[in-house]
Amino acid sequence: MVIISKLVNSKLINREKVSIYTNIEGFFHEHLILATMDKNDRVNLMPLTFKSVGNILGEICINIFVSNNRYSCSLLENGIQEFTLSRGNGITQYIEKTGNSSGRNINKIKEYNIPLLNGMETKVPVLADATESYECELIGSVEKSEFLGYKMFIGSIKGVYLHYKNS
Ligand SMILES: Cc1cc2nc3c(=O)[nH]c(=O)nc-3n(C[C@H](O)[C@H](O)[C@H](O)COP(=O)(O)O)c2cc1C
Repeated sequence: MVIISKLVNSKLINREKVSIYTNIEGFFHEHLILATMDKNDRVNLMPLTFKSVGNILGEICINIFVSNNRYSCSLLENGIQEFTLSRGNGITQYIEKTGNSSGRNINKIKEYNIPLLNGMETKVPVLADATESYECELIGSVEKSEFLGYKMFIGSIKGVYLHYKNS
């Protein structure tokens, strides 16, 4: 068992590396928060519901569906070739704000004061308030007319972490 600790806003956050299959039902049913990053290390967040897990040529991957209109889509195409997903009760407070604004116009992290944690395996961070986070390296994308303007981005899973907070 690997446990890594970090102090955020005077709370100790421990992260334990787990399998993708830990709490997999929550992964499918909940709204997650997608984090992406541009080449100047500026992070953007957006809520994300459409995703799947698959085995692509032997690699266990998370596939996310992002509309061409989103600023996040252009970051996935042109930014750091990684993404992370955060989930859990603690992140629901950010869903409305990050889903009703665009990183094209504002810096959501600063505007909404959202605490982040460095990724364990990725440069792209995760939300400090998550209860579980997924760190992925972008290995490809698929665009089809059947996807109705959404592009599928394929992320090879680098690590899945459970977060525990201690006062
Ligand atoms: C609960 C919720 C779930 C969403 N799921 C998705 C999704 O799976 N894919 C997508 O492209 N947009 C989704 N959206 C819309 C984007 O999150 C929203 O347009 C956001 O403002 C885009 O931000 P950006 O322009 O900074 O990338 C969702 C919005 C909400 C509120």
